[in-house]
Amino acid sequence: MNEWAENGRAGYPRLHRVPQRLPERVKDSSIEEGKPLLRVLAGEAAWPSPLWLMRQAGRYLPEYRALRAEAPDFLSFCLTPELAIEASLQPVRRFGFDAAILFSDILLLPWALGYPVSFAEGIGPNLAPLDGRADLAKLDLARVPEMIEPVLQAIRGVRKALPPACALIGFAGGPFTLACYLVDGRGGEFERTRRMVREEPVFFAELIACLTQAVLGQLAAEAEAGAEALMVFDSWAGLLSPRLFRSFVIEPMATITAGLKARFPTLPLIGFPRLAGLNLEAYGQLAGVDCIALDSGADIVLARRLVSSSIVLQGNLDPFALLCGGQDMREEALGIGRAVRHHVHIFNLGHGVLPGTPVDHVFELIALWRGQK
Ligand code: CP3
Repeated sequence: MNEWAENGRAGYPRLHRVPQRLPERVKDSSIEEGKPLLRVLAGEAAWPSPLWLMRQAGRYLPEYRALRAEAPDFLSFCLTPELAIEASLQPVRRFGFDAAILFSDILLLPWALGYPVSFAEGIGPNLAPLDGRADLAKLDLARVPEMIEPVLQAIRGVRKALPPACALIGFAGGPFTLACYLVDGRGGEFERTRRMVREEPVFFAELIACLTQAVLGQLAAEAEAGAEALMVFDSWAGLLSPRLFRSFVIEPMATITAGLKARFPTLPLIGFPRLAGLNLEAYGQLAGVDCIALDSGADIVLARRLVSSSIVLQGNLDPFALLCGGQDMREEALGIGRAVRHHVHIFNLGHGVLPGTPVDHVFELIALWRGQK
């Protein structure tokens, strides 16, 4: 049997709409050409839509838990290319997803900037809370290329090993979300960050400007190493009021997309402004992304109306529907299917796979999605 999952699609998806901005080569009706995920990101509708899951690698997979035991801590795991390569490939091998996402973490960037970052088992990330200009001066952009070399090696290795129809997604954290972890030092309500945004706006803007350049540099390096699409996880974007969302989510993202498009004009960019709500409209107009990943709270029909049809939507099944499975999961997934049937879409969750998710639910979801007529 093929090493790659047999439950993959039988042939490539049917295509039914070719928007104007498609480059000539993709208009070719030979559907053997190209990776489904990349073709959809270029604006070409496919049905059933290509599918991958945020946090598709990780603790819900027994093979990940076994592999994870080979490294003393999560940071060393991410920085050992053989382990990161294998963790990226595991879910593709098991489930036949249309994309692999680089196995790494958004908090590797603060670490690469010279900031101490650790992951406490069972608790989560731990950073020395950033406080004032002396700490900001510790963030050293010049170190990043050398420090992330193991991550780039992992990208090169995954690209070589992937099956031909599977695309590789590289990623980084959004500047605001990175600032949340830097300023608060850990996950939670991010109270220090939310005060700093208002009480020290000039300083906070300097921090965001520094992180924006760092994210741009990281993503450009990932693209050069072989990532075929890039995603920016701004998981805590929804904590901001519309005014601050513009300054600290949309504007930094627009700088990042402009910088990347100047160097890699055809490289697709996915933004994940989680919990953006009605700010999605401005994000779609101004951030410059090719695709918006929707969280589970976003009504995908309304989102489609708020965002230009030239932007692909990705998402947005509730990870708890996948965790619990059964009829509820089937109804939710098929409801998304009905809503996106005639749009350019990538199937995904609205946030990451939860650690307790049964592997069988993932198999069932994939069969259900790919079995749609
Ligand atoms: O499969 C994939 O999606 C690729 C790997 C990936 C990880 N983290 C692995 C990871 C990706 C894309 C991320 C992104 C990430 N990391 C985000 C943005 C997306 C989101 O979930 O909102 C954020 C906010 C982080 C920060 C982070 N890393 C937290 C809060 C935690 C602890 C909570 C948790 O889920 O354990 C991590 C650790 C982490 N990152 C783990 C994994 C697999 C668990 C650590 C382990 O396996 O020991």
